[in-house]
Amino acid sequence: MTTPTADTAPMDFGDLRGILRYVPQFRGRIIVVAVDGGVLQSPKVANLLLDLAVLNSLNIPTVLVHGAAAQVRELGRRRGVAVSNDDGAGATDQATLEVAIDAVSRVGHQLMCDLTALDLRAATTNALIAHPTGLRDGVDLGFTGRVERVDAAALKALIQERLMPVIPPLGFDGGGRTLRLNSDAVAAEVALALDALKLVYIGEQGLQTAAGDRIAQLTVQQARELARPAPADAATDRAPLPPGLISKLRYGALACQEGVPRVHLLAGDRDEVLLAELFSAQGVGTMIHADAYHHVRKASAADLPALLAMMQYPVEESALLPRSKADIEARLGDFRVIEVDGHLVGCVALHLHPDGVAELAGLCVRRANKGRGFGRELVRHVENEARQHGCRRLVALSTQAFRYFEERLGWEPGEINDLPEPRRQAAAANGRNSRVVRRELG
Ligand SMILES: CC(C)(COP(=O)(O)OP(=O)(O)OC[C@H]1O[C@@H](n2cnc3c(N)ncnc32)[C@H](O)[C@@H]1OP(=O)(O)O)[C@@H](O)C(=O)NCCC(=O)NCCS
Repeated sequence: MTTPTADTAPMDFGDLRGILRYVPQFRGRIIVVAVDGGVLQSPKVANLLLDLAVLNSLNIPTVLVHGAAAQVRELGRRRGVAVSNDDGAGATDQATLEVAIDAVSRVGHQLMCDLTALDLRAATTNALIAHPTGLRDGVDLGFTGRVERVDAAALKALIQERLMPVIPPLGFDGGGRTLRLNSDAVAAEVALALDALKLVYIGEQGLQTAAGDRIAQLTVQQARELARPAPADAATDRAPLPPGLISKLRYGALACQEGVPRVHLLAGDRDEVLLAELFSAQGVGTMIHADAYHHVRKASAADLPALLAMMQYPVEESALLPRSKADIEARLGDFRVIEVDGHLVGCVALHLHPDGVAELAGLCVRRANKGRGFGRELVRHVENEARQHGCRRLVALSTQAFRYFEERLGWEPGEINDLPEPRRQAAAANGRNSRVVRRELG
């Protein structure tokens, strides 16, 4: 493998700015990245490890879980061993276990070499306590195991020391015996144990519709449906999915249902796949999410009562400027709302001013729905709209959420002169002493 170094990798400052915009939402949260053995054999692995190095340099802790099915198959073939199962999901006999131990060791060793070349400090651990799976459908799975416990404290201690844990698809039981594990299952268990913000699966293929279009988002329920084998007698136009994708959908849905907010399925056959998925609004793979269906839309007259009710408390708290029904009605076209399963949970307004300056106002998320990213989504939506209108700058006046804009959303502190003249006077006259925050839309 040729590993690009920081000196040879191409640098685009526009990309860097785009990335930094997203960094605050990752602060202090762990990302678990699970990479299939087949991807680790491909020429794209160099680029993937470089993506991990970028995350590391941004202080976003990552845990790397790896598979080894392709390497187990290849080593078995070379040794003349008929492997009983390659991916740790089926039965593992003694001969296959020995091949798996050697194949996994080689993968781990190569990874350590490549990570060292990128100045990434990493450590392999015995953090997975496993038990033999036992019998499934009447078949003894032999040395195949399942994760019993993840030593989260040990992994967190490594992360604290800025060492990236590298977790192989092997576990140990209390008696010191080695068991073969499935890396997709391992990654889900590790993500849950570490309360990870994201679990990213990078396999050899991405998820597409029958027409070949990317499936960008799935709810947990939809992921489960897709993972379920179609009954043999059912008339279906769905092409059967490869086992690797079925496994990722299954374990991804499980992790998401149990508490990992976002699970991503990516194809490892393109450059910068990890960064492109994490640091762009549209992503490049499939995201599984647990949230109920929601979307941002223009406000309509029917939303007025809900809008007024939602704003009442923040207005009383002096976080929002008081607005009458007539005020909102007069500028209803500027308001956007976010709706979850038919209920309004947040709103924001975008006022366009002359000279390419736009103003974000009236941002508000219902108390019961706070902390679920709706505020961020509304702001990002309005940023995109302002960009589409050709605005160069977006400003907001805030009494209590200026830190939210600056620390969570990457806005910068502004000044009263960032506002267009008539707004400047109105802001100074209302006595709220609001802070100005701004986003250059470039
Ligand atoms: C500010 C507001 C819109 C954020 O909405 P939200 O959907 O809860 O925000 P998100 O889910 O995108 O982000 C939540 C994160 O922002 C932080 N945050 C929320 N409000 C904050 C504030 N006023 N100051 C600093 N950080 C804040 C939360 O602590 C949380 O941090 P965490 O991810 O580390 O747990 C919402 O709190 C609100 O309606 N506030 C009252 C009205 C207001 O002040 N509006 C701004 C007028 S310009």
